[in-house]
Amino acid sequence: MRKISFPLIALNFKTYAQAFGENALRLAKIAEEVSDQFGVTIAVAPPIIDLARVAAEVEIPVFAQHVDPYEPGSHTGSIIAEDVKAAGAVGSLVNHSEHRLKLADIGMVLKRLKENKLISLLCTDTVETAKAGAALSPDILAIEPPELIGTGIPVSKAKPEVVRGAVHAVQKINPDVHVLCGAGISTGDDVARAIELGAEGVLLASAYVKAKDPKMVLIGMAREALRGWEKRI
Ligand code: G3P
Repeated sequence: MRKISFPLIALNFKTYAQAFGENALRLAKIAEEVSDQFGVTIAVAPPIIDLARVAAEVEIPVFAQHVDPYEPGSHTGSIIAEDVKAAGAVGSLVNHSEHRLKLADIGMVLKRLKENKLISLLCTDTVETAKAGAALSPDILAIEPPELIGTGIPVSKAKPEVVRGAVHAVQKINPDVHVLCGAGISTGDDVARAIELGAEGVLLASAYVKAKDPKMVLIGMAREALRGWEKRI
C-alpha cells in the first residue's frame, strides 16, 4: 500500500448506490489509474462491506468511513480498528458529519487508530470544532461545513474564510496536522482554490461517485491539485 503524500485527494464513496459491490472496485481502480498518471495521492473510502476487496485489488490508500470506539469484543455490528487493519485499510474517517461521535468517543477512536497504526482523518464542521479537533492530534483534519455537503457549491469558493480560518487555527495549535477541506468540491478549479487557501488537499464524494464520467472529473482535480501545489511551494 502506498504512503499518503500531499496534496491529497480523498474520495468518500459514502453509501451511494453507485458505489456498491463491483462499482466500489471500479471507482477505486479509476482513482488508482489517475493517481498513477499524475503522481498525486488519491485515497478512497468505500462502503465497509467492500473495503477488504477494494484494499486487496488496489495499491492506493484505502480508508474506512468510520470506526467505533471499542476494543475487540462483544460489540455486535460495530466496526473495530483491528478488523479495519486486517481488511487492508491504512486509516479511517472519524466523526464525519453523517456519522457524528461524542467528544469522548472521538478521543477513543483516535487512540484506537493510533494503537493500530492507522491514519486518522478527523472531520469537523466549523473553525471552532477544527481547533478542538486539532488538540486531539489527528493525522489529518478535514473542515466540511455540512450545509454545503452534496450541494455542488464548493466550500473553497463559498466559504474561503472557513478554509483559511481552519488552516491557520489548526497550524497554531498543532502544526503536524494536515488540513483538507470538503463539501461541494466538484471541479479542478475548486481543488486549486482550496490549495491556494492553504489546504493540503480535499475530501469529496458526490462529484466523483455520481459523475457520468468519474475519470474525467478526477483528472481535472489531479491536474489542478498539482498546479496549485507547485504555486504554493
Ligand atoms: O466526506 C466528504 C463529503 O462529506 C463531501 O460531500 O458530496 O459535497 O463532496 P460532497
